[in-house]
Amino acid sequence: MTDITRRRLFVGLAAAAAVVAATPWLFKRRREHDHAMNPAADAHTAPGLPNAQPFQTPLRLPGREGLFAEVALSAPLALSARAAAFPIFAGKPTPVWHYAGSVEGRAVANPLLRAATGDSVEVVLANELTEATTIHWHGLSIDEANDGSGLHPVAAGARQTYRYRIDNRAGLCWYHAHPHERTGLQLQRGLAGLLRVEDEEDRALGERLGLRWGERDLPLFIADKQVDADNAIVYRIGADDWIGNRVLVNWTPEPFLEVLPALYRLRLVNGCNARMLRIAFDHQGQPLPFRLIGTDGGLLAQAWSMDDVFLAPAQRVDVLVDFGALAPGARVLLRSLEYVAMENEDESGAFAPDPMGDHPGAAPMGDALDLMQFCVAACSDSQRRQARLASANVPAALSTLPAPPDTTAWPVRPIRLRMDSDGTWFINDWNYHQVGHAPVFSVKRGSREVWEIRNNMTSMPHPIHLHGFQFRVVSRSISPPDVRSRKVAPQGLGPQDLGLSDTVVVWPGEIVRIAIDFSQPFSGTQRYMLHCHNLEHEDMGMMVSFAVED
Ligand code: C2O
Ligand code: CU
Ligand code: CU
Repeated sequence: MTDITRRRLFVGLAAAAAVVAATPWLFKRRREHDHAMNPAADAHTAPGLPNAQPFQTPLRLPGREGLFAEVALSAPLALSARAAAFPIFAGKPTPVWHYAGSVEGRAVANPLLRAATGDSVEVVLANELTEATTIHWHGLSIDEANDGSGLHPVAAGARQTYRYRIDNRAGLCWYHAHPHERTGLQLQRGLAGLLRVEDEEDRALGERLGLRWGERDLPLFIADKQVDADNAIVYRIGADDWIGNRVLVNWTPEPFLEVLPALYRLRLVNGCNARMLRIAFDHQGQPLPFRLIGTDGGLLAQAWSMDDVFLAPAQRVDVLVDFGALAPGARVLLRSLEYVAMENEDESGAFAPDPMGDHPGAAPMGDALDLMQFCVAACSDSQRRQARLASANVPAALSTLPAPPDTTAWPVRPIRLRMDSDGTWFINDWNYHQVGHAPVFSVKRGSREVWEIRNNMTSMPHPIHLHGFQFRVVSRSISPPDVRSRKVAPQGLGPQDLGLSDTVVVWPGEIVRIAIDFSQPFSGTQRYMLHCHNLEHEDMGMMVSFAVED
């Protein structure tokens, strides 16, 4: 039975039983019973599960070769999409689909790419897989031909040159495969990497804080994978929200990192197919507060102190964490805290069955999940003093990010997120499987629009992603309590809404307005994607293309 038929069946059953709908956001869909019925769900005996002693593996950091190697895009880079096995978990190597390259004789895989604002870059993709793929440059404002969406698949055996100039300000973007209907599969298998954009402002902040990239300024690329007894990553096309039983950070399972008792800058990326994270640092059961300094599109204007932050698939957060007050030997867990997952999918408001059978051992969506551990190392008094200094040195004005525009005169385009009674996701009346590649609307280049994205109550949180343009979030209304309580600015905005974004979560029942400036240096018709970055939703057609025209 497909998920769609299962859903349809369930909606029918629920209606027949005349289930009284609860206030939808008061309930959280429980999956523990599915879990309990599954004998493989015993956390310490199931195949593919971490052992009882997690955090034994040192975190992989950007290195010179292999997975996650760091590569400057100062010269043209050739990458091949291919399958190969990597020793990721204890025991058998794991087959991974990845972008392989060779840089000065060193083999690199899914490299962390580096470039600066204004750079012209060239990446040649050779597709050595047996199916079409692409490289999409998530977060970058580039033209359609180089954007790497499913509109421009690179067939098996073919090659494609991506050539573009980086106009974005500094920030951590990423790149990944984006083939039509197979993005979920290809990302779960591994086709993704990070792209760090630098600029003067960002460099100056690093210097001022004494935070050297690769030492105390580190990327954390988080992705959950469903792993079987043979250490293989499994995926089932057509399944709902693909969550996994193992967490990889920088391709390291349940890792640890030894840190100095000092200030760190951590740049987190949610590379999960579907799992929303609620990121927190936990010291002996207490939150270790951090400062949010940046989002998808780079630095915020000022830092915000927080205990936890939602990080949806594809989103990035840039945070300062101060381990300076902790004693040597202290351990800090990077966790995803429990949250109300709000998977109010079916029309009755009743609890939908979950195909947990696909994810033995996986923490249900919204359950707490440990991601990695930091162990505080011993250090000298002078190191400690220096660390204190850095922490005190965080400038009040982090960046020159302009205030959000006054959008009162901007035209408003309504965007509605919903599921029909057959379990098909829609953006307005559009599902990609029904509408196809043709743009569903067009906007005028250089124009400015407010998009009012409204999510149905019987829905799920959808991380909505726009290609080609970074945008500003201008208001949130009818937000669930967990979101409302984060408000620090007028119009219901939380700290995370105050920067540039390319992916915004719209919670069930919520209305989120975003402001987009469609200025760009390209000409002719440029088609871009608007879609949910829950990759299973995307592949099931919760996506449209739209055109930017003169
Ligand atoms: Cu991260 Cu349309 O993609
Ligand atoms: Cu994108
Ligand atoms: Cu979605």
